Amino acid sequence: MHYLDILKEAVLELSFSKPLREGLTHLLEHVAKKMGYRHMSLAIFDPISQMIEFTIYSGYAKVPQKTYAPGEGIIGQVVKEKKPIIVPVMGDEPRFLNLAFNRDIQDLKRLSFIAVPVLLKNNDGLAEIFGVLTADIPRRSLEILKEQSEFLELLAIIIARHTSYLQDELTKKHFLPEFGKGDESEVQKEKIVFSSKAMSKIMTQISQVAPSKATVLLRGESGTGKELIAEAIHKLSKVKDGPLIKLNCAALPADLIESELFGHEKGAFTGAIHTKKGKFELAHKGTLFLDEIAELSLEAQAKLLRAIQEGEIQRVGGEKVIQVDVRIVCATHQPLEKLIQEKKFREDLYFRINVFPVYIPALRERRDDILPLAEHFLEYYANEYNKKIKRISTPAIDLLVQYHWPGNVRELKNCMERAVLICNEEVIRTYHLPPTLQTAESSATDIQLPFAEAVAKFEQEILIEALKKAKGNMLQVARELKASYRVINYKIKKYNINPKKFVR
Ligand SMILES: Nc1ncnc2c1ncn2[C@@H]1O[C@H](COP(=O)(O)OP(=O)(O)O)[C@@H](O)[C@H]1O
Ligand SMILES: [Mg+2]
Repeated sequence: MHYLDILKEAVLELSFSKPLREGLTHLLEHVAKKMGYRHMSLAIFDPISQMIEFTIYSGYAKVPQKTYAPGEGIIGQVVKEKKPIIVPVMGDEPRFLNLAFNRDIQDLKRLSFIAVPVLLKNNDGLAEIFGVLTADIPRRSLEILKEQSEFLELLAIIIARHTSYLQDELTKKHFLPEFGKGDESEVQKEKIVFSSKAMSKIMTQISQVAPSKATVLLRGESGTGKELIAEAIHKLSKVKDGPLIKLNCAALPADLIESELFGHEKGAFTGAIHTKKGKFELAHKGTLFLDEIAELSLEAQAKLLRAIQEGEIQRVGGEKVIQVDVRIVCATHQPLEKLIQEKKFREDLYFRINVFPVYIPALRERRDDILPLAEHFLEYYANEYNKKIKRISTPAIDLLVQYHWPGNVRELKNCMERAVLICNEEVIRTYHLPPTLQTAESSATDIQLPFAEAVAKFEQEILIEALKKAKGNMLQVARELKASYRVINYKIKKYNINPKKFVR
């Protein structure tokens, strides 16, 4: 019963909307106290650096000194095997390295140690490890320790989802600081915002491939962020101090593309008054981003293939062979495989650029990203247009999250810019969003809401906002909305709103 009570308290603790770290730290402190543990810690496994970092801990006087690699020490062993380990006496266990917290000799004799994995099943049904939960326990018998280990395993299940967020946070740090250069507004503009698992995986892939010279092929619908990711690859690459040259192959007529790519000599064709360097030359010792690569003519494709394979080019109308050392990143929203069958895209070029394909899902396939992106753009445009807008109302969030976003992040960005422009309140509400979103659910019929329904929706929104602000106090809501308590009570019943939900 004792264990159950503590687990119950843990669940409750996590249900409060506290900042993640604060909540977890508090939870560990609470559990340690109730269970008589000397210390507790939560170490997070970082899948990019493959290191295990102590992120949350309670009861230790020292700041943790050390990160572990999988297989190293007890903590590393737990990550590697995904199984709990019980150490009856710290000082007797050779694998117990005591590096992170540097406990003294007395403690090593007096303490037992338990480390359990924090796991969640991923979509494939495989257990994915996010971290290790540990406890320093005044010496106990093995029997009791086994019981304690089971208790900790349950606690690990309870905190697994939260731990996965901490892992996301940890992995993000690998790429975000890279964008910290330059002035503030630039940082804001170029930040890659995400919280979906799908995007985390992509960011992991990107940070792995960026430092190599491998050609990257970015695939995904228009507006999914391909160009932004190409920029990130350059920034994380070894040639980040070199140039990043972009060419949108869809933007130029076929006969100009070649001279754009490879340059031309003076007099090569009518209008070639000066010798001009092509994008390949300009990108020497840097990155060349070829956007909409499927738009290239078959002829240009052949020349591009040669340039990539040989690492040399010739200017249009020129004899000289010029050596180029260029990292190539390509992007397309086209189905290349189909184009190959239709003989519109060269298969050999496809194989050459398809070394490291990255598929960026449409925004509707990673809805977890919608809200963070919306908030990011809100902050960005509120700043840009000098408006004091603090947040997005709950009904408006619902609309944003439900919408199918055919234009992906670009459309969301435009939508938020428009909302900020027309908003004269502190909150973005449904009526600041474009009509296409308002009818998202009924998009098949595409009718506007009937007047009565629109009014009802508006009323509910106002009520919910006021309830939130008043933490469920209906008298206060009535005062705030300058209505009688009776009317408010009636409407709340009518719309089936539960004011208790807002009590905190
Ligand atoms: N994850 C993201 N975080 C922040 N901004 C994004 C993100 N994805 C896309 N954007 C923004 O959306 C717009 C469209 O992205 P872009 O990279 O041009 O898409 P694509 O090249 O796939 O058409 C750009 O303004 C870009 O900055
Ligand atoms: Mg683009």
